[in-house]
Amino acid sequence: MNYYIITGSSRGIGNAIAKQLIKVNNYLVCISRTEDEEIKKLAVANNCKYHFIPFDLYEVDKIDNLIDEIFQHTRLFKKDRLFLINNAGVISPIAPLEKADAQEIKKAVNINYLAPMLLSGGVIMRAKDFSGSKRIINISSGAGLNPYHGWSTYCTTKAALTMLTRCIALEQGNEKNPVEVISITPGIVETNMQEIIRATNSQDFTNVDFFIKNKEENKNKTPEYAAEKIISLMHSSELKSGEFYDFIEL
Ligand SMILES: NC(=O)c1ccc[n+]([C@@H]2O[C@H](COP(=O)([O-])OP(=O)(O)OC[C@H]3O[C@@H](n4cnc5c(N)ncnc54)[C@H](OP(=O)(O)O)[C@@H]3O)[C@@H](O)[C@H]2O)c1
Repeated sequence: MNYYIITGSSRGIGNAIAKQLIKVNNYLVCISRTEDEEIKKLAVANNCKYHFIPFDLYEVDKIDNLIDEIFQHTRLFKKDRLFLINNAGVISPIAPLEKADAQEIKKAVNINYLAPMLLSGGVIMRAKDFSGSKRIINISSGAGLNPYHGWSTYCTTKAALTMLTRCIALEQGNEKNPVEVISITPGIVETNMQEIIRATNSQDFTNVDFFIKNKEENKNKTPEYAAEKIISLMHSSELKSGEFYDFIEL
């Protein structure tokens, strides 16, 4: 059995990943605040095991309970494979730091960074004795490498996620049953997040015109295309733990 724990499965890239993984012998544990009923129907129709956990990743104090629930559905035997896909993320607040709402900053830090960190730690601990393949896929962003005006919260949370990836890879390098971990930037993908970016005013985000133009010129990738590339990479024997994969360059 292949177990896939996917955060942010209700729409966008996470939704496309979940749908493409609906197959016999796969077990999807999907996490977001809302459920996409279509995933449930497709899972039944395709004889794929599926469990949805409604959870607000802002509530990091409850992540232990989330990990307990995930592992109630994850019984690992030697030939199984386990994947954690830390995909859920938010772009807001978009504004120069002094104008950004403090509560929105806290939300983004929890959802984009603290939740993936705690989830990764929990999965590493719970799967310590499992000798099969274990991989963590962190959906990061080019904004974690390069600063953008108005995106101080998003950039710093994604930079932290990318560094977390490198730290876990280093620590796991010494382990008997290591977890492999990578971070990925999927490029510009046409999702709700892009709609939020394009709706920002140029005082709060000076690069907004670039994103509007990219959409007008039909350059944005589809979530299905991004999901296909992510799935192919996460199953690849060429995967290098600790690496940051940039889909713009791949
Ligand atoms: N789209 C792009 O161009 C792009 C580029 C680079 C990186 N990324 C990264 O790719 C990932 C997916 O982004 P996307 O574009 O697919 O975004 P999206 O369409 O806005 O979807 C975000 C997903 O995250 C979930 N989520 C948001 N807040 C949550 C919360 N408090 N608790 C639990 N789940 C929550 C949402 O589910 P609910 O609302 O149901 O909770 C939704 O399923 C993000 O990490 C993003 O930073 C995207």
